[in-house]
Amino acid sequence: MKYRLSEKSRQILDHLSTVKRPLSASSIARSLGLKDDTVRSLIESLRQKKLIEDKETIRIEFYQLTPEGQHFATKGLPEIRLVKLLAKQGGAGSVESIADTKVLKPLEQTLALGWARRNKWISVSESDGQTWMKLTSNTTEAIKQHPLQLVLDSAKESGFFQLADIKLEKKYLRRIQNTLRKRKLAELVTRQTITVSITSKGHQALKAALTDKELIRDLSPDLLKSDAWKDQDFMPYNLRTPTSPLYPGKKHPFVEFIDRLKRVLIGLGFQEAKGPLVETEFWNNDALFMPQDHVAREVHDLYHIKKPKGPGRIIDESALKRVAKTHENGWKTGSTGWRYPYSFDIARRLVMRSQTTSVSMRFLSEHKEPPITMFSIDRNFRPEKFDATHSAEFIQIEGIIGGKDLTLRDLMGYIKAIAKGVGVEKIKFKPGFFPFTEPSVESFIFIPELGWKEFGGSGIFRPEVTLPFGIDFPVLAWGLGADRLAMAALGIGDIRELATRNLGQLRKASMRF
Ligand code: PHE
Repeated sequence: MKYRLSEKSRQILDHLSTVKRPLSASSIARSLGLKDDTVRSLIESLRQKKLIEDKETIRIEFYQLTPEGQHFATKGLPEIRLVKLLAKQGGAGSVESIADTKVLKPLEQTLALGWARRNKWISVSESDGQTWMKLTSNTTEAIKQHPLQLVLDSAKESGFFQLADIKLEKKYLRRIQNTLRKRKLAELVTRQTITVSITSKGHQALKAALTDKELIRDLSPDLLKSDAWKDQDFMPYNLRTPTSPLYPGKKHPFVEFIDRLKRVLIGLGFQEAKGPLVETEFWNNDALFMPQDHVAREVHDLYHIKKPKGPGRIIDESALKRVAKTHENGWKTGSTGWRYPYSFDIARRLVMRSQTTSVSMRFLSEHKEPPITMFSIDRNFRPEKFDATHSAEFIQIEGIIGGKDLTLRDLMGYIKAIAKGVGVEKIKFKPGFFPFTEPSVESFIFIPELGWKEFGGSGIFRPEVTLPFGIDFPVLAWGLGADRLAMAALGIGDIRELATRNLGQLRKASMRF
């Protein structure tokens, strides 16, 4: 029987037959100087031809460079770059002069100084109000064969390395392991792998191997131009070969979630609006019929702005006057108002926006013809203690829809549709209270980790809110917690996880929407 083996497959069989013991793919790759993925895919096809067989599952440990480790593998450790710079400047220099070269980023320079000093590569002294660094005598030798840099260099291409490959005394190895961990340059990862050995069929194949004619792996322009490809045999693709995981760039899950929400709302026919984060109390509260000096104002606390102190400018002066009258005596709204002297100074005070309902009010002041359909998904700020379900900065899904025949049923329908758009179907409604809506509805959603949680407020704007802006038809309004909805949609139990920067976790996060 004749076998057609590629040169690399033959090498693998040959290696297994010489070594005479089971080996893992990565150990074969290392010995033959081949890429891990190449060996793994060849092993898979040799296994299918029964030329090799699986022996046992073993765990291998290796180090994977962190982004910082990768950076230093490519650029060199900052302390080594610092020494080289100093050597160029004649062996000494001030901290400022090194900063001026801009070779090291400010943070890298701090790191470099710390480590160079700890390694006793430089001595540091102060004079003339400057900090001077001087190379110690044996420094230039020390950096030539610096063990940590050698280790990083060996992983430059692949991003990982095994301790077994590093030819260093035990005590140095231990020190390097500690440094890698402390400086967060690499993480220890374990993976299961299978060792393989050559079968008797494999031995036969090796003897009889037809290696004179190579199987082609990659089609090159030359092969095409010269028509040589017509006489060649191509290596078939093996789609079942396991490969190392690849993490393509993707959006942060929370960003992806917000983008999805926006698409849902646009799909429902809403138009996106934006408003300022630093807001006047007028738009944040007064226009919403929240009295200026009253406990009702304190349904939620506000961050007041010290700088700039204000006052803010309110462009729609006539609306401001009508709102003032509505607060004082109800104006033409049929209400008795709050019955207190309205302060224009308070109206112009600056605060951090505490509700995106302010954006809805700004929108209403400029859009008075039905149908009115607006949404805004944006940040708000309230003094809150930070914990698993509270944050001082939070995102609301705000929206209004205004038109002649709208009712509370429509309102609940829209809120359901928004939640459903991101896959959340467990939702409940209860009567609620807000100073600016009547009736008001509070909604709750089910977060698997936490149970039923308040999702947000909604209702039909009171005439005291709409009439001063010349709107005499019902306007449905809602302000929902985007963070809460994200927790329900993404299966997260802690609000702090929404903003995670844990790269390992983010790489593995699947795309949901
Ligand atoms: N702005 C309210 C809040 O932040 C929510 C709300 C919006 C209630 C619109 C009713 C209408 O709590």
